[in-house]
Amino acid sequence: MDESTFAARLAETAAAIERELEIVLSAEPRPGEPARPARLIAAMRYATLGGGKRLRPFLAVETARALGRADKGPRRAGVALECIHAYSLIHDDLPAMDDDDLRRGRPTTHRAFDEATAILAGDALQALAFEMLADPATDPSADVRAALCAGLARAVGLSGMVGGQMLDIDAERSMSPLSVSAIVRLQAMKTGALLSFSVEAGTRLAGASPAASAALSTYGRSIGAAFQIADDLLDAEGDAATLGKRVRKDAERNKATLVGALGIEGARRELARLIGEAESALDSSGVGAAGDGLRATARFVATRKN
Ligand code: IPE
Ligand code: IPE
Ligand code: MG
Ligand code: MG
Ligand code: MG
Repeated sequence: MDESTFAARLAETAAAIERELEIVLSAEPRPGEPARPARLIAAMRYATLGGGKRLRPFLAVETARALGRADKGPRRAGVALECIHAYSLIHDDLPAMDDDDLRRGRPTTHRAFDEATAILAGDALQALAFEMLADPATDPSADVRAALCAGLARAVGLSGMVGGQMLDIDAERSMSPLSVSAIVRLQAMKTGALLSFSVEAGTRLAGASPAASAALSTYGRSIGAAFQIADDLLDAEGDAATLGKRVRKDAERNKATLVGALGIEGARRELARLIGEAESALDSSGVGAAGDGLRATARFVATRKN
């Protein structure tokens, strides 16, 4: 799949996800709800609807499609993933964490609203994600829905995203630099876990065979690790106008990154190695040409400019 076909497919999925986000994040209460506090829903909409690559939803939708499922189930899971991701960004940007003022080319949520509203918007987005996954509209099988909820909880909790964020903050305050293997583990938790769960959600929704699930899980872990290395390279080399967020902040804040531990060239080599690993895993997954979108995603992770 060439770059422009991939870009069009990513844009098409992003548009479908945004249409669905518009519905679940309507300002008016949804059936059965007593109220939607105006300031809270405004902040949730601000954080989710203002741009973003929608890569996590794309991974879920594209994995399911490669395995033969193309209905609304994977899109609903994608919306849940994007809600979690938006929540993680809102909290990541708070003064108590990375203290950033710019996200997706606009003021961060706590800047546009206030800290209390931003914290609550993140909390409510997290709850909404689980509500979406638990809804029979996502999948008719209660077993599949329970597996999705449990898998997401593991990916984002104590030993997933939130645990990784704790290690990231600990490292920032530490006097001695982390080892390469400790950085790899930190990044697998803070960023890799949600990205690889996005692929896993696709395999679960499509009822993939154990062999295909295992190969795609390797693919997910590899691009998950690659994604944060690319983010760290962009922080070191990119520009704020293209990225929509402040740059050079990692070195300034003593963040534990592979760019810091291995240098730019070393981090680039590791990124390329991981993309190769992701491509080999796809080749052995048995999805064949149906996996071309996922193959193009691996290349995109390494070459993206924002
Ligand atoms: C940024 O994620 C935060 C990281 C996990 C590195 P993205 O680069 O996917 O952010 P958006 O959603 O496209 O803005
Ligand atoms: C964020 O990593 C990972 C999350 C879990 C949100 P970063 O702190 O490097 O992300 P940016 O650079 O602020 O987008
Ligand atoms: Mg951070
Ligand atoms: Mg940050
Ligand atoms: Mg970063």
